[in-house]
Amino acid sequence: MKDIKALVAQMTLEEKAGLCSGLDFWHTKPVERLGIPATMVSDGPHGLRKQDEEGDHLGINDSIKAVCFPAACATAASFDKELIGKMGEAIGDSCQHEKLSVVLGPAVNIKRSPLCGRNFEYFSEDPYLAGKMSAAYINGVQSRNVGTSIKHFAANNQEHRRMSSSSDVDERTLREIYFPAFEISVKESQPWTVMCSYNRINGVYASENPWLLTDVLRKEWGFEGYVMSDWGAVSNRVKGVAAGLDLEMPASGGINDRKIVEAVKKGELDEKYVDLCCERILNIIFRFQESMKPETPWDKEAQHEFSGQIASECMVLLKNDSDILPLNKEDAIAFIGEFAEKPRFQGGGSSHINSFKTTSAVEAAKGLNVTYAQGYSVAKDEATDEMIAEAVKAAKAAKVAVVFAGLPDSYESEGYDRTNMAMPACQNKLIEAVAEANPNTVVVLHNGSPVEMPWIGQVKAVLEAYLGGQNVGEATVKVLYGDVNPSGHLAETFPCKLQDNPSYLYYGGEGNRTEYREGVFVGYRYYDKKDMNVLFPFGHGLSYTTFDYSNLRLSAKEIKDTDTLTVTVTVTNTGKRFGKAVAQLYVGDKESTPIRPVRELKGFEKVALNPGESKDVSFTLDKRSFAYWNEAIHDWHVETGDFTIEVGASSRDLPLCETVKVDSTVALPHHYTLDSIFMDLLADPKAQAVLEPLLKKMKEAFAPENDGNTTEAAKEAVSDDMGAAMINYMPLRGILSFGGADTAPAIEQMLKALNNQ
Ligand code: BGC
Repeated sequence: MKDIKALVAQMTLEEKAGLCSGLDFWHTKPVERLGIPATMVSDGPHGLRKQDEEGDHLGINDSIKAVCFPAACATAASFDKELIGKMGEAIGDSCQHEKLSVVLGPAVNIKRSPLCGRNFEYFSEDPYLAGKMSAAYINGVQSRNVGTSIKHFAANNQEHRRMSSSSDVDERTLREIYFPAFEISVKESQPWTVMCSYNRINGVYASENPWLLTDVLRKEWGFEGYVMSDWGAVSNRVKGVAAGLDLEMPASGGINDRKIVEAVKKGELDEKYVDLCCERILNIIFRFQESMKPETPWDKEAQHEFSGQIASECMVLLKNDSDILPLNKEDAIAFIGEFAEKPRFQGGGSSHINSFKTTSAVEAAKGLNVTYAQGYSVAKDEATDEMIAEAVKAAKAAKVAVVFAGLPDSYESEGYDRTNMAMPACQNKLIEAVAEANPNTVVVLHNGSPVEMPWIGQVKAVLEAYLGGQNVGEATVKVLYGDVNPSGHLAETFPCKLQDNPSYLYYGGEGNRTEYREGVFVGYRYYDKKDMNVLFPFGHGLSYTTFDYSNLRLSAKEIKDTDTLTVTVTVTNTGKRFGKAVAQLYVGDKESTPIRPVRELKGFEKVALNPGESKDVSFTLDKRSFAYWNEAIHDWHVETGDFTIEVGASSRDLPLCETVKVDSTVALPHHYTLDSIFMDLLADPKAQAVLEPLLKKMKEAFAPENDGNTTEAAKEAVSDDMGAAMINYMPLRGILSFGGADTAPAIEQMLKALNNQ
């Protein structure tokens, strides 16, 4: 391995400043006299978007022919870490073949609202799931000695005004919801690079935020690679260098390089920061350079097959009344809707891949007893009377009608948000007409984010296929006909309507400011706390077989917050087919001082089971599984008390529950004053000991029987509870007001003693 520090020492200030921005859209700058090569990066994340000439960052110009794997909205629903790891390996191989040092992804931003135009690129509304899937993907890619760039760090949850908006989020919410996917990935998979986001966070651009890029990312989490900017995310380059933004992408035409040089010369920027940026960039450049394997084969046909296999593991069977699915291969089936012939399998923008081939459901169903009717035109966003009539005719002639529907490209894309959660009106109309013509109607959906389903009561089944990559057609047919048993589960809640979503009132913000006022109550954390009806809950997913969860065992009834807890459960396939269950574990704080969600996902495992087979699944819980972010100590904290451990098949299907007591080993600091109320003081045993005698005195003063003016009826009305409540909420100084002035010196002494403890 090269001596990077020595290399940096040989570079001129101009060369160093130059290395801190790109050569062009996709390359780092070479320094030929020192043998520093240019290396190439490329989008990502679910395949390669390698552009040779005429680079752009929004997928406008063609890139090389590649394999489009399912997008993150789909892969998250697989709940299968091993599978996404293998997808990462395949992408890593293609990068080696194409001499790409870094693939720009995964994209792990939280799905705060169904409206975000880029939701299809993101994993989940849940940070734990997003983090675990992301870490597995990164480990897969990087096992091939190719880097990843986890993005977009951080709190980039809307496309609206994405380059100027400030995401105003409180500290606890950032730590509990918007950071963990990045944190888990850094700690479990050490991505070679991190891409900072366009937006500002609490007023400061991510690209020049020292707290974000240095204190949290590097000092707390231990990130070792380089940070690059999102394309054009740099506002003040000099501030960025000091904050820990190593590489500006794509470039600034040399302007920012010169600003760095000037700032150093004027003494406004310490050159050590420039050196640090260069060291980090060069570490990665040479790490790749020294392990390049351009002879790595890229078998696109094999990856096409694999892409279909992944897609089939991601599909979520949302509804399946009267076991209408799987279909029978002998039966006459009508495929209706243009997506059956031209599937929507990926989203628009920088992640858009130039697929070398695609397989539609109509193609994949060749040889089966299937007819096809277009139903609607995607390009014209319409379903003409003739189209509907043709579809109805096909539906009537078939045993089962399968409508392929969802969101057209123009409805969701990088660069802008949706304005509502509706599917195209023409498609809703078609589904209703078909369902009326044939009660055995199934809907297959292609979309990157939840949609409203006004027709849900009229159809028998819904298969959520998401944006399943270029071989989604084959995967869909396999699942519809039962060659593959569906095993995907929702990585996001489908609310009944957009207005139910917790961010609804604030999403998009005012001007350049978006307040995340719903705080930690994102997705199911909100719907569960409010006990609301949802269309489909987080974690939901049906199968053609049935599973039973039993025998929940905890390794202890009580633990310290420094211990780990092992939770084991038995999952049994009680049906007649091979299938895969997703065992989900949620933790909830039974009673807590901070306002917390009812339950939070803290473990999941995909389990393959033959009919009748049982397997034990184990989870390990640690402090973080029980903790919330405490803003007073700026750290994770577990409040002593009982926690529920629930296990089951979705956030709303949790047949098993046990309780564990967790004891905190950390005493929270407090500062008492005369304004502190009794309730808080009495919760502290030390304060309680001192206050007890004083309180007795006060209670006597309060007691109605000692008050000459109080009637008998009034005395009866003042219960003990009321008396206690009045004292509870009274500040300490109340003692002085209510006849305890002589206790003033004792109180002062007590405060001193308590505050010094
Ligand atoms: C996107 C990134 C992408 C980059 C390069 C930006 O517009 O936000 O996700 O990696 O372009 O194409």
